[in-house]
Amino acid sequence: MTQLEMKKIAAQAALKFVQPDTIVGVGSGSTVNCFIEALGSMRDQIKGAVAASKHSEELLRKQGIEVFNANEVSSLDVYIDGADEITPQGYMIKGGGAALTREKIVSSLAKKFICIVDSSKQVDVLGSTFALPVEVIPMARSYVARQLVALGGSPEYRENVVTDNGNVILDVYNFKILEPLKMEHTINNIAGVVTNGIFAQRYANVTIVGTPEGAKILE
Ligand code: 5RP
Repeated sequence: MTQLEMKKIAAQAALKFVQPDTIVGVGSGSTVNCFIEALGSMRDQIKGAVAASKHSEELLRKQGIEVFNANEVSSLDVYIDGADEITPQGYMIKGGGAALTREKIVSSLAKKFICIVDSSKQVDVLGSTFALPVEVIPMARSYVARQLVALGGSPEYRENVVTDNGNVILDVYNFKILEPLKMEHTINNIAGVVTNGIFAQRYANVTIVGTPEGAKILE
C-alpha cells in the first residue's frame, strides 16, 4: 500500500469526529488535502470551516464548503491536521508545508486536535527524522539562526519560501527534542521568531494512523 493510500485511510476515518452544524478547523498538507476531499461528502451537514492556509481555503471552497475567518469564531469543536512527526504522547513537529503559525492559531481555537498521519510519522523522540521548522521575521533571520546554533541545532534557510504571513523559514537539523514543551517555549522566546513547529502546548488529543489494516485510533 502506498503512503498516499494510508493518508486517505486516516483522512476518511477523521470524518467521524466531525459533528453536524459545526465549523471545522482544517490544517494543511497532503493528508489534509485528502481530508478536505472526504469532507466534501458532509458539505450540507456542516456550517463551514476555518482553514490554516490559503491553499486549504481554496480546496474547501472547491468542495462547496464555506470558509470562515479565524476572527469570526470564538471556538471550534475539532481541528483536523497532519504532522511531520508525532510521539505516543501526541507531541508533534509540524510546518513541513510552512503553514505552522496559522496551524497553531487555528488549532488553539479548538477543543480537540485530531491528527491524521501514516505510520511513517510515528516517532518516540521529536527531531528523529524531520528538521524543526521555525518561522522568522525576515530581518531577524541571521540573529535567530545564531541563537538556534547556541541551542545545539543546525539551522538551514528554506530557499524560495515565503509563508502566508510574509516571513521566512529556518529548518533546524540535529535537534533531539527530549523536552518538547520546554523547547517550544525557549525557541518562541527568541526575538524575531514568530513561532516554531513544536506542537506540545497544543498537542494532539487523538491520533489516527492510516495502515494497510485500516485506521488505528489512538486517544
Ligand atoms: C504543514 C504541516 C503538515 O501537516 C505536515 O507537513 C504534514 O504534511 P503531509 O500531510 O503532506 O505529510 O504541518 O505545515
